[in-house]
Amino acid sequence: MDGITLPGRAIGTPLDRSDGPAKVTGTARYAYEHPVDRPVYLHPVQATVAVGRIVGVHTEAALADPGVLTVLTHENARRLASLDDPEVAILQTPEVPYRGRIVGGVVAESSEVARRAAGLVRFDYRAEPHDVLLRADHPDRYVPEVMNGGFATDSIHGDAEAALAGAAVRHDATYTTPWQQHAQIEPHATIAIWVDDRLVLHVASQGVHRLRESLAALFGLEPERIRISSPFVGGAFGGKLHTHPDVVLAVLAAFAVPGRPVKLALTRQQMFAEVGYRTPTIQRVRLGAGPDGRLVAVGHETVQQTARIKEFAEQSVTPTRVMYAAPHRSTTHRMVPLDVPVPTIMRAPGKTPGMYALESAMDEMAIACGQDPVEFRIANEPPVDPELGRPFSSRNLVACLRDGARRFGWAGRDPAPGVRRAAGGWLVGTGVAASMYPVYRMPGSTATIRLEPDGRYTVSIGAADLGTGTWTTLAQIAADALAAPVGRIDLRIGDTELPPAIAAGGSSGMTSWGSAVVEAARRLRARAAAEHVGAVPPQGIEASAEMPDNPEMERLSMYAFGAQFAEVRVHEATGEVRVPRLVGVFAAGRIINPKTGRSQLLGGMSMGISMALHERCVLDPRFGHVVNHDLAGYHIATNADVGCVEVHTLHEEDPHVNPMGSKGIGELGIVGTAAAIANAVHHATGVRVRDLPITPDRFFGTVAGVRTLAR
Ligand code: MOS
Repeated sequence: MDGITLPGRAIGTPLDRSDGPAKVTGTARYAYEHPVDRPVYLHPVQATVAVGRIVGVHTEAALADPGVLTVLTHENARRLASLDDPEVAILQTPEVPYRGRIVGGVVAESSEVARRAAGLVRFDYRAEPHDVLLRADHPDRYVPEVMNGGFATDSIHGDAEAALAGAAVRHDATYTTPWQQHAQIEPHATIAIWVDDRLVLHVASQGVHRLRESLAALFGLEPERIRISSPFVGGAFGGKLHTHPDVVLAVLAAFAVPGRPVKLALTRQQMFAEVGYRTPTIQRVRLGAGPDGRLVAVGHETVQQTARIKEFAEQSVTPTRVMYAAPHRSTTHRMVPLDVPVPTIMRAPGKTPGMYALESAMDEMAIACGQDPVEFRIANEPPVDPELGRPFSSRNLVACLRDGARRFGWAGRDPAPGVRRAAGGWLVGTGVAASMYPVYRMPGSTATIRLEPDGRYTVSIGAADLGTGTWTTLAQIAADALAAPVGRIDLRIGDTELPPAIAAGGSSGMTSWGSAVVEAARRLRARAAAEHVGAVPPQGIEASAEMPDNPEMERLSMYAFGAQFAEVRVHEATGEVRVPRLVGVFAAGRIINPKTGRSQLLGGMSMGISMALHERCVLDPRFGHVVNHDLAGYHIATNADVGCVEVHTLHEEDPHVNPMGSKGIGELGIVGTAAAIANAVHHATGVRVRDLPITPDRFFGTVAGVRTLAR
């Protein structure tokens, strides 16, 4: 960047969502709702063993139903052109790698017939032993080459072991997070149609161009023969970024019944096996400090699972490389391959589980050092990025902690745990934790802007709106870059017919797409000034630009930070935890739209409550599947679980990140929330829960040495 930030006329104003009226009146079409002629319906058939081989296929009963057009299995499905991605190479072999794997699909005239007939398809299996339980000492544990996002597996600075051994104050504890599911409101849905020898897909997707590339390779098609449309997405959280087996099954079916549009919407239960999830983690955190409470050593090691058929290695200890100053630091990831579905990115991958463990440990260490948890963090604030030695482009964690403490009313907090009570048997506590999320910037986005003869601007880019606000915020960026009112911008996103764009992931969308839009606008204004005198020609004036490089990213470390404060109540008789109040203060550069921005951070914090108190996939190791595979058994925080959530953003000038001066906020809000709640729970009760979620049973355990709530 040249260090020049766009003037904010539209940027920074709390505009209503431009797609709001369409959404509340039901005219915004989600993937499955696209009207098509004479659709057929596809229902997957899932494996009923965790590991094994199909040795017999019985489709007669299903095919006997006159409403059934075809039953796809590995015996008759189209061969894929590439088997490089074993997660999506379905119906290609008789092997079963995990329970629930898609091994067939029924295509029928109605969804009801398809579903019923899917139940009539029978496979004979030769089952083999399976292993689905993650253990830290698992014999198959291995060292992955590189973590998701390209992060180093291990990072060693100094001699953490020796420094820990010699530290005046030491903390050593293990924290666990469970298998978690994205649980978007909109299920994964696809309509696949052949139109004039082109495959047209309506899909709920975080990135249409990315999906097209992957399907083109899988099916051996020229990318231009595939069109993907995804203007509206009903929640994604990482689960709709990578290609999963559902859309592959839909395309296999479209090849099988070429004259008919194929519709597939996964059921809620199918989503628990087919479209990714967050790995459970077992994290050991060791901290050593001097008598003054300054950290001398940090150790953070995690053991996580991946699928035996494909590695996905979540980068969970990476935040510990950036958060606090310490001369000696060791951070490592280990993986265990299991006979389970493939994990994927979810709600701030790595940062969310890692910061739960680190920020819980920081609270324990502050107490061990006899320091206030806010002051303890501030005392260990690094002057530069501890991992890379680079300056931060901006780092306002301290300001977030101070501002949050003031707003929350932290001053004068009695640190003694388990001593405050409210009427009705409630124990009351407060806790704090930090948030962080990197500023990512993904190459590969192009924007095209056309000045129309009527003076309006058409801004085209294959970007995505997952419910996050892109339809509104990208128009605000374009408006300021063109020095035009927002009302004169016609934004087009969510379609492969538009210029290519990166997927919405890593909270990088606005940085990546916005930078391309700003550059295209700069070129258009230059061209318009040079070429036209008087009226705009009938064909308009057009300019395109790719997202420019930002050389500052090599010189500076770029992160958004935040501080989360939680007040909790824990019932002394039942162990029920309530969160009446959360205060989040974030420093994330310029906020493009304070209304949609608040909504993103509020959503993230609500997901943090959900993670802290509710979300856990429960596995049946005998069969290898998630048993609570619906929204009754897998509880997501609802309005009744979310109390008062305050979101504040600090004014932060960062001319280095991008021309908007903005940092991604899609994921920042969830990071740290669960630790703030867990820390508050300890303050309320004196019981340190180190295993999420904090369900009532955690307080009445019988583990020796763990203080339980008195009964
Ligand atoms: Mo987000 S989990 O990087 O799509």
